Amino acid sequence: MKPSALEFYACPECRGTPTLKSHEIDGSEVVSGTLSCACGVEYEIRRGVPRFCPSIKGVQQNTADDYGLQWTKLLDGKLEDGTVYGVKRDDWKEYFQESLGLPLHNLRGKRILDAGCGSGKLVRAFADDGCQIVSLDIHSGLDALYALAGECPGSHIVQGDAARPPICKKKFDVVWCSGMIHRTPNPREVFSQVAELVADDGLFFVWVCRNRRNPYRMIRSCLPFARRLPPHLMYIASLVLAIPLYIVFNALYLLGWWSRKTIFFGFKQSKNRYRSFGEIALTVFDVVGPEYLHAFHEGEIKRWFDEAGFQDLRSTDNVDIGICGRKTAVR
Ligand SMILES: C[S@@+](CC[C@H](N)C(=O)[O-])C[C@H]1O[C@@H](n2cnc3c(N)ncnc32)[C@H](O)[C@@H]1O
Ligand SMILES: [Zn+2]
Repeated sequence: MKPSALEFYACPECRGTPTLKSHEIDGSEVVSGTLSCACGVEYEIRRGVPRFCPSIKGVQQNTADDYGLQWTKLLDGKLEDGTVYGVKRDDWKEYFQESLGLPLHNLRGKRILDAGCGSGKLVRAFADDGCQIVSLDIHSGLDALYALAGECPGSHIVQGDAARPPICKKKFDVVWCSGMIHRTPNPREVFSQVAELVADDGLFFVWVCRNRRNPYRMIRSCLPFARRLPPHLMYIASLVLAIPLYIVFNALYLLGWWSRKTIFFGFKQSKNRYRSFGEIALTVFDVVGPEYLHAFHEGEIKRWFDEAGFQDLRSTDNVDIGICGRKTAVR
């Protein structure tokens, strides 16, 4: 953690600004120590990452541990190699730019929050582009992300619950929130909490699952007990389940390629392309393992944007739901 990151953080209990109480420094990074708030609560900084969620319990712990192992395996190269869900780093950049309608050269000096950062795609893609990126997630594998990108200038990695974000309100020019809200117990509440972090005139991008037929979600509903498996067993189960799916999906891809069809038995593929074994195993782990997976209609998410004071809404995904809005400035 860089001491300068304190300008972004707020105590989740009282919204006060925490201060560094005791700490051990290595170069410009605080590698361990304690953050203390005037309300009396203290937060640990462990292995370079401030931990603002000392009391995750029950199913939230399941989410934190499942994703912790999933992203640690990915960042160790044990699932996909160089891609995340089949997408390459240069393509993440393009997707980010298109989704926000913001040219990449405009990022210099911007403050960006990646809420539910997962494997830290944003910070790994933009760490050298002169912006400040706060990567927030609840998962227990942030050590692996910190080892890769924690020390980059402008990178701030923080563990916390987006339902009670340890982040100052109205601080960010861009809040990117891809695939996180629908993995929480109360998506509507998490949306409102995260929307408050966007600065006036800032951009807010949200991606969630659309309520539609999806083969991975069908597997999830057939295997509800999988959510109770310890993460290591879930990882093995994902590798085993990926074997038949790899054969079926790529056979369909070949058929689809010949006939140029993208719809099979009512299942719409997001892109008719080859899928690696690692991508399929990661997706099974992602969809089947964690506790929560809600799906939405686009109108519902647009209404949330409206109610939170966003305008210029743009839909960016016609398979699932990606929406970008601009926060109405209070003049
Ligand atoms: C499907 S992944 C998406 C990761 C990344 N945004 C991406 O697009 O690759 C969902 C992420 O949301 C995180 N998450 C779930 N509940 C959360 C919460 N309450 N607070 C913060 N992060 C949460 C998970 O740990 C996981 O990394
Ligand atoms: Zn406090």
